[in-house]
Formats: sequence, C-alpha cells, structure tokens
Amino acid sequence: MSPEMQNKLNNQIGMEAYASFLYLSMSVWCDYKGLMGCARFLKRQSAEEHMHMMKLVEYVQEVDGYPSIPSIAQPPGDFKDIDTLFQEVLGHEKKVTRAINDLVEFSSKEKDHSTYNFLQWYVEEQREEENLMRTILDKINLIGDSPQKLYYIDKELEAINDSVESGGA
Ligand SMILES: [Fe+2]
Ligand SMILES: [Fe+2]
Repeated sequence: MSPEMQNKLNNQIGMEAYASFLYLSMSVWCDYKGLMGCARFLKRQSAEEHMHMMKLVEYVQEVDGYPSIPSIAQPPGDFKDIDTLFQEVLGHEKKVTRAINDLVEFSSKEKDHSTYNFLQWYVEEQREEENLMRTILDKINLIGDSPQKLYYIDKELEAINDSVESGGA
C-alpha cells in the first residue's frame, strides 16, 4: 500500500470515529428529551460507526501498514429539534459517502486492487445508511406538525429499531 493510500485510510479512520461520537452525542440529547426510540437508534448507529472505524484499523494492519489513531473533534451537544437532527445525520452520511467515493477512485488510480475491493463494503454500507436516513426523514415529513408529533416520530424509530434488531433493514 502506498503512503498516500495509507494516509487517506487513516483520515477515514478519523471520519468514522467522529461519526461515532457525533451519533453518541445525538443519542444523549434524544435521551434527555425523552425520545427513547431515537436515542436507542442513534446509540446503535454510534456503535456501527465504531465498527466501521475498527474495520479500517484492522485492514491497514493486515496490509502491513500502520493505522494512526486520531484525536476527535468535539461534536455538537445541543440540537435545534429532531427534524434538524436527522437532517444533520443524512448530511453527515452524504459527506462520508463522498469521502468513500474519493478513496475508491484513488485506490483504482493506484491500481491498489486489494484496497479497492475492501472499500466496496463501505460503498454498499453508505447506500444502505443514506437510504435508511431518507426513510426516517420521509416518515418525519409524513407525520407533519401535530401536538403528538414527537410521540409518533419516536414510535416510528422504535419500529425501525425492532426491525433492525430482528435482522431486517
Ligand atoms: Fe461509517
Ligand atoms: Fe454511517
């Protein structure tokens, strides 16, 4: 693996770690607001991002590189409302997708087939995560503005939690 490729993968380690902390911070906020379904959802997303980070660390080790473990920027701790929060999640996922696409392009340019192959898992993961976040935003839109809005949103998130945890998507 070239030093540039290793640097780029190391940057991605930082990006996944930041996503993990961002979603954990969002989960804490939701818990505080009594949105327990949203909190549980985001806590699981946080654990997923940690797993994405670990997969990168282990890959770099496997190809005899040296993963660098970065410091993580402080994520925001306060959020305007639940709509904005999930829009921010989708926005962040889109940013990660662009970063993964850049990595894929670079690995292909370098003829680094092993890394190219490894990254395909992330390509698929990003498609799934963006799709899931869009589904949630669609539901939030459908619920619209009603006095029980937060109750229904949290109920939808609980339904998604149950479906994901029972092995669905
Ligand atoms: Fe990720
Ligand atoms: Fe993600």
